[in-house]
Amino acid sequence: MKGKHLIEPGDFSIEELDDLFSLAEKIMENPSAFTEVCRGKILATLFFEPSTRTRLSFEAAMLRLGGSTLGFAEPNASSTAKGESLADTIRTVAAYSDIIAMRNPKEGAALLASQYSEKPIINAGDGGHHHPTQTLTDLLTIRTIKGTTSGLTIGLCGDLKFGRTVHSLAKAMARYPGNRFVLISPPELEIPDYIINRVFKPAGVSFSRVQQMEEVLGDLDILYMTRVQKERFFNEQDYIRLKDSYILTLDKLRLAKKDLCVLHPLPRVNEIAPEVDSDPRAAYFLQVQFGMFVRMALIARVLGYEGGKK
Ligand code: NCD
Repeated sequence: MKGKHLIEPGDFSIEELDDLFSLAEKIMENPSAFTEVCRGKILATLFFEPSTRTRLSFEAAMLRLGGSTLGFAEPNASSTAKGESLADTIRTVAAYSDIIAMRNPKEGAALLASQYSEKPIINAGDGGHHHPTQTLTDLLTIRTIKGTTSGLTIGLCGDLKFGRTVHSLAKAMARYPGNRFVLISPPELEIPDYIINRVFKPAGVSFSRVQQMEEVLGDLDILYMTRVQKERFFNEQDYIRLKDSYILTLDKLRLAKKDLCVLHPLPRVNEIAPEVDSDPRAAYFLQVQFGMFVRMALIARVLGYEGGKK
């Protein structure tokens, strides 16, 4: 994995993913054994869009590996505000750092950055396209709670059109045998056709579409809730009309299996009532914790750490 870019979930093989998850598990068991792994290395975080968890978990991950971080959390604090191209910004930052985590509102921005960077680029979200490190977080959470990433019925609920975490998770889970998807969204926020035609169909993955969460809650092993992505709407009225399409409550959860696992990449707005947080099926704050450890494993491997292999 040394020197590899991570732009979308397919960039790593299933074996590489397994190795990352088992390294993340080792780090979780004994974090103090990993505090020197990235000593002297620098992670740059270039965030052209808002973030809490992704940026801070990348930075915490690098600091816990003994490395350092630099970067910006908003584009107006960089020469982007003066009209500098992404290619030039990346060439510059690649000269100062060893690995770059980048979030940008444009689809394809991370891929473009990777073409101008000798240092590994980690896509921390490119518009409504992909968010592969959230998927690493999601897969590690599912694997830990369910003991497997195969043979599961996964409900994806909410903004399936603009939600990049959904696109990356669908692509990743379609690689494991026996997974089925239930796509729960209003017609305006359906999953893009390319996920159906270029991901699900070629892999023979079974899927269904519904508009009402209540109809399918009892069938699900995983319920992946998402926020309606306000910043990607062209028109505020559509956002206001669609924003509260789904609200998970304890009352609705009575329809679900006892071992349902409720995930959400966060931030949450209204789509999960706070009363659900104390239900044992709510796993979204555990998911936050896994995010830092799996990013530690990713940074370590991409920077050439070879320890902890099977
Ligand atoms: C997600 C994102 O940025 O796509 N957040 C995250 O990274 N955990 C989800 C969202 O913003 O709704």
